[in-house]
Amino acid sequence: MAAPRVIPLDAPLGARIEDLDRESASSPAVAALLNRALAEHLLVVVPGERMTPQQMRDFSSAFGAAQRQLLRYKRSGEVPEVSVMVSTLMDDGSTDKTALRAEDWHTDDSYMAMPAKATLLHSIEIPSRGGSTWFCNMHSVYDALPEATRQRIDGLRAIHAYDTVRARNRPSERTSQEIAETPDVEHPLVRTHPDTGRKALYLNFNRLDRIVGMDREESDALLDELAEEARRPEHHFGHRWTLGDVVIWDNRATMHRVDVDYPAGEHRIMQRVLIEGDKPF
Ligand SMILES: [Fe+2]
Repeated sequence: MAAPRVIPLDAPLGARIEDLDRESASSPAVAALLNRALAEHLLVVVPGERMTPQQMRDFSSAFGAAQRQLLRYKRSGEVPEVSVMVSTLMDDGSTDKTALRAEDWHTDDSYMAMPAKATLLHSIEIPSRGGSTWFCNMHSVYDALPEATRQRIDGLRAIHAYDTVRARNRPSERTSQEIAETPDVEHPLVRTHPDTGRKALYLNFNRLDRIVGMDREESDALLDELAEEARRPEHHFGHRWTLGDVVIWDNRATMHRVDVDYPAGEHRIMQRVLIEGDKPF
């Protein structure tokens, strides 16, 4: 097979990888190419065949060490580093709580002290229409803020929690063990990408509760102002799934959300791997 090629998307973020033999992904040269593409484009789409959980875990090693997800009930039995995300819409309009929460912009695991560097999502079953996953470039959101706002927020810190009154929907219940593992954490509001040195606004509409040192009203007003910029379509790209796609995104400089707009009863099942990250700075 020819060497893999990185084709940038005509969008605010993202690139497609052509001619990639997924089994070669963890070789040093290919892994370096994939990680460079991720840091530069923040979102990488790799089309191909469906993979077993084992094959997906092996492929994911190109990006780092796989991290087990918090909620035990989602872990794949045979390969616990791979989660099975079922977001099939039931006839009564209900679906898994995680899927409902994913309707709003978020970055994965920001309620952890060391949030996942990247997420891999792989389509196993997709509905006949709808169900796109949307991505937001948080470098361009930061760059688009007025200079006075950037000066105001540089150096601020924020509390991220498993749940916050600011989120539209409530999360899945945690077991007592899972609660003990997830105390609230503090992160910078503006983080620096460790590979490129670029600054990104570090928001999460489902987890970011408040700014440290501000009262609720002042904090809400500032977070609402920042959210308004992040909701502008000029920072967004929507990925329409083809069966077998693997999509990898950089949680350090993006948010994502899903359209829960697909027909009821049609299966939507993804395999997911989280890649271990560092402490945000
Ligand atoms: Fe997510």
